[in-house]
Parts: sequence; structure tokens; C-alpha cells
Amino acid sequence: MPSASFHFPKGFLWGTATAAHQVEGNNSNNQWWDWEQQEGRILQGHKSGLACDWWGGRWKEDLDRAAESGQNAHRLSVEWSRIQPAPDRWDEDALERYRLMLRGLRERGLTAMVTLHHFTNPLWFEEMGGWENDESPVFFEKFVRKTVEALKEYCTLWVTFNEPNGYAGLSYAVGVWPPGKKDFNASFHVTTNMVRAHAAAYRAIHTIQLEARVGIALYYRELACAHPTSPLDRWATRNLHHTLNAIWPRALKYGVLEFPLKRVRVPEAAQTQDYFGFNYYSRYQVAFDLRKAGEMFARQFFPPEADLSGTGFLANEPDGMFSGLKWALQFNVPILVTENGVEDAEDKMRPRYIAQHIHQMWRAVNFNWPVKSYFHWSLVDNFEWERGWTQRFGLWELDLDTQARRKRPSANLYAEICKENGLTSEMVTNYCPEVYDKLFPG
Ligand code: FCB
Repeated sequence: MPSASFHFPKGFLWGTATAAHQVEGNNSNNQWWDWEQQEGRILQGHKSGLACDWWGGRWKEDLDRAAESGQNAHRLSVEWSRIQPAPDRWDEDALERYRLMLRGLRERGLTAMVTLHHFTNPLWFEEMGGWENDESPVFFEKFVRKTVEALKEYCTLWVTFNEPNGYAGLSYAVGVWPPGKKDFNASFHVTTNMVRAHAAAYRAIHTIQLEARVGIALYYRELACAHPTSPLDRWATRNLHHTLNAIWPRALKYGVLEFPLKRVRVPEAAQTQDYFGFNYYSRYQVAFDLRKAGEMFARQFFPPEADLSGTGFLANEPDGMFSGLKWALQFNVPILVTENGVEDAEDKMRPRYIAQHIHQMWRAVNFNWPVKSYFHWSLVDNFEWERGWTQRFGLWELDLDTQARRKRPSANLYAEICKENGLTSEMVTNYCPEVYDKLFPG
């Protein structure tokens, strides 16, 4: 008998999350592939290349790993540019391949969650102006109808957009993702079209499948005011929190986009989320900074005492997950943790990161907050966007030259958690004794 344990309700979904472009390989017909070929775009000139070779069939061995390690769900995305390589062409073989993958999930006892858009656009769509084109919701809805019709036998949990808030910001305001624009108006315009596209997709999916549950996966960033006595810091924190975290879920609840200085009515978007998809990675301090005009005058940083990840990209701030879940409650729908994880090639921090975040999620569940799933990012190391292969988020390590996988200790910890449907004091003693006193005080 473990001396102490944090158990989860029966039926809790434990899985990992992946995205097509990051794992499939050879996704050469989308805007990200194009971006990767341009000099200076990706750290160290990395390219997605063959990625984890899922398109070549290695999804099978990776899903075996997931299932054998006790997971009961998996979140993956489909690649629009494969399914609709040209505006007037559907690739039925690509759809068949995704059906096979989803059947593969079912055969392994993994509940499927399918993301329809995870940052990548077909080249033809990007060339027509991408999400700045006011016809974009129409294009997206067509793609969604076709895809959901083809896959509905295997999935009822749909994510229209992964982190549309992050996408609009990084691609159109900060400019580090394609198409590299630095223009707030463009980013708000894109957001408006994506909200419209979500609303159209939400309705389309529900007409095709009565039992569907549809939402987005929001990039939630916990923001703490660096100097609570400073009105400017307080303003910067509030403003960034609203723009980054709140605009999307409020639009999907109330049908209004509340941009700074501008409101746009999108009545068709009201009441279009069946669950709150919550991606959480870290908490940031915020201070007002005039030089940060592109980031809404908010300088974001980790405090000097922070427990930093492998490349210093994230800080281990599990309390922020609890606060975020509490904040998400106001939207009155079940909450699905759709991503959480840390880049850590050496797997030094990951075990405690996992244990501490799952502990915070357990606290939430014990207040009867409706948290229903946890998808760890990620199953295997994969292509990390503008950070290329410099960041390793996998429970399994990937050797890019040989495609060999090697299990990290965290994979064993996570397997024990999934099989137990909870976290025990023995697991913490075995994998991350350094946080034992934090998790089991007294
Ligand atoms: C999230 C993205 C995902 C991955 C992780 C590390 O913001 O949704 O694709 O890059 O970060």
C-alpha cells in the first residue's frame, strides 16, 4: 500500500498530445515547410524533415508505446494540406491514412481527440492571404466537413484550433512564425476570421455528429504582476491577460471579441465551446516596459529563483496551473487539459514537473472542478517550430539520425500514474524525491 496517494475519478483521460507537422515528416505542402527553407527562420537552421516519420508508419510503434504505458487517450492533429492539397482537390488516400491511424488508436484502447488545425495552413490557402482573407472561414468549414465526415466513426472529441491565440500573436504581431508580420491590426483581423471559422466548424461538426464535443485548445499563460504596487505593472498584466488568455473563451461564450480599443460582434460564436481546452506550460512575471510595444508593453520574465527547464524556455510553476484552472471555471464547461509538458533532454526536471502539475490538477479535481483529462506534451521528441530540434519535449527521446527511440525515466513515471489513475508517495520517492516535502508535507 502506498502511504499516500492522489487519485483521479474513474474515466479520467490520460494521454499525450502530438501535432501532424511536428511528427509526420515530409509535410512539404504547407506554409511552415516553406518557412523552414528560408534562412534565419528556425534556430540553428533546423528543418522538420522526416520528423518522427509518422507518415512513413512509425505512428504504430509510438502508439504501442503509449498504450503499453497505460495511457487511455491520445490527441493528434490532421494535416489540412494533405487532405486538401489544392482548393479543388481532396486526397482520399490521405483521409484513409488518418482513418487507419484512428482505427489504430481504437485497437489500442486509446480514446481519440482530433485537432483540425495545429498551426499549419496549405500553401494554396496561405497564398490566398491565409486567415487575413475574409473567405477563410468558408474554406475552413469545407475542409472540416470533409474531414469530420471521413473520421466520425473513430472520434467524437474535436479541437477546431490549437492555440489560435498563440498563432495569431506569433505569426502576425510578434512575427516569428509565418508569415512573419508585426502588425496588431492584422493579428486582430486574423483572430476575427478564426473565431468565425470556429463557429462555422462548430455548427458543421454538430450537424454531422450529434454526440460531438467541440472546442479549441487555448494557450493559457499564467501572468503575475511583477510589482503589485505599480499601477503600470498592474495595467500591463491585466491587459496582456485579457488579450492573450481571455479574448477567445469570452468570444466563444458571449459572441463578442473584445480587442483593446475595439469590440467586434460575432454572434454566431456565442455558446460554441463544449469543453475548455487548456494548454498550460508556465507562469511569467509581467512588468510594464515602453520598449515592448510589440508585446503590449509587457516585459515577461521568470523570477531569478525560478526552477528553469533545460534551455531556460520554461519555469516549473505548478501553482499557475491551479490558478489557471480556477480561472477557466467561469466558462462553465468541462475542462480538458489538452497540453502540459517541459523541454528537458536530460530528463532532470521533467519527473518533478509532471508530479507537481498532476498534483495541482488533483487539487482542482478535489474541489469538484470538472477537469476530465490530461494530455502530456509530448510522446516523442518532435519538431518544435521556430525552436527546431533544440527542444526535447518527449517522454521518449528521438535520435534523428536513426529514428531510434529511447525511453526517458519520465515515461516510466507517467506510465505508473496512468495505470494507477493517480500519483502516489512511492512514485514521488522513486522519481523526484526532491519535491516529496512539497507534495506530502508533514
Ligand atoms: C505548444 C504547442 C505545441 C508544442 C508545445 C511545446 O504551445 O501547441 O505544438 O510546440 O507548445
